Amino acid sequence: MGFSTDAIHIGQEPDPATGAIIVPIYQTSTFVQEELGKHKGFEYARTSNPTRARLERNLAALEGGRFAFAFASGMAAIQTVMMLFKSGDHIVAGHNLYGGTFRLFERVLRHFGLSFTYSNTSRLEEVERAIQPRTRLVFIETPTNPVMELTDIAAIARLAHQHGLLLAVDNTFMSPYLQRPLELGADIVVHSTTKYLNGHSDGVGGVAVVNDPELADRLKFLQNAGGAILGPFDAWLVLRGVKTLAVRMRQHDENGRAVAQYLAGHPKVKRVNYPGLPSHPQHELAKRQMRGFGGMLSFETGSLENAKTVLKSVRLCSLAESLGGVETLISHPATMTHASVPPEERRRLGITEGLVRISVGIEDAEDLIADLDQALERID
Ligand SMILES: Cc1ncc(COP(=O)(O)O)c(C=O)c1O
Repeated sequence: MGFSTDAIHIGQEPDPATGAIIVPIYQTSTFVQEELGKHKGFEYARTSNPTRARLERNLAALEGGRFAFAFASGMAAIQTVMMLFKSGDHIVAGHNLYGGTFRLFERVLRHFGLSFTYSNTSRLEEVERAIQPRTRLVFIETPTNPVMELTDIAAIARLAHQHGLLLAVDNTFMSPYLQRPLELGADIVVHSTTKYLNGHSDGVGGVAVVNDPELADRLKFLQNAGGAILGPFDAWLVLRGVKTLAVRMRQHDENGRAVAQYLAGHPKVKRVNYPGLPSHPQHELAKRQMRGFGGMLSFETGSLENAKTVLKSVRLCSLAESLGGVETLISHPATMTHASVPPEERRRLGITEGLVRISVGIEDAEDLIADLDQALERID
């Protein structure tokens, strides 16, 4: 079946008990057993909950995987994946990860004996140089936030496997509609479902998806042992949101292209970071590895003052962190999402004080462009 059909039907079958077309919210902590050891597949809701189980089936299918595990947040999903490793293990990670992931690695997991080398994963030779005898995992995001740098997933998967390493890809920015890392050779995909999968900015959640049954068994064990599970109502919100994932992503992509093109042609905009523009250095890779370019982009206004003016002047775009909702969000990476990255590192990554990020929503593109146009009028 096609992607939209799967999104609407896999795990979303009518409720066998009542015929309800919508998956019920099983708001229960435990399940009564008929007799000792005889139950309907559910015993205790941390271990397994029917609403969550439906979502896990759905998201596994959409990512082209066999097993999915839903968590209380994207960070909880990543934390649980990292619990697959043990003291002394080494991880090669992208040099421009989501700040919360970097914080988890550096300020929490280092205390448990994991070590990390950050490298520019768009350059395979840098990744290869970073591999050590105790390296177990390569962890990447592609495209990166907010400079939209890409990593060739198939190539890095080959490299990781040559060295006996796992490859994990945080696919939050693209969603499985636009990019399917497992099909390109990745072993683990994680998402903040808070973003495109839910799509309506009304819930926080995360998921990890795998194909390998042994990896799945270990993640299932860790999900239950650690207990950072997604609650049934939040699982239900994602089940609802994901039904429109394909149509939303097509519109995010169409609007993203329109806004990027408008910004690229604006005399006051110094640079636009969007993989869909032919000027993007990895445009060809983007065309090969992604099914569209999505709704995330950033652009250079030239100074902190200009960035502030744009952010203050927009009326339709909302100044807020997060991304992937139907409404357009605009933000200032240097002082918001990337404030904890040291200034010299920010400069090295291209996260200047004049850089503005947009999560382009699915409003009418002309309205978004008109809003940005009146805001850009006001800068030098
Ligand atoms: C790429 C990426 N990964 C992970 C996360 C963390 O997800 P959550 O906020 O759901 O914990 C975020 C949040 O912004 C993100 O942008």
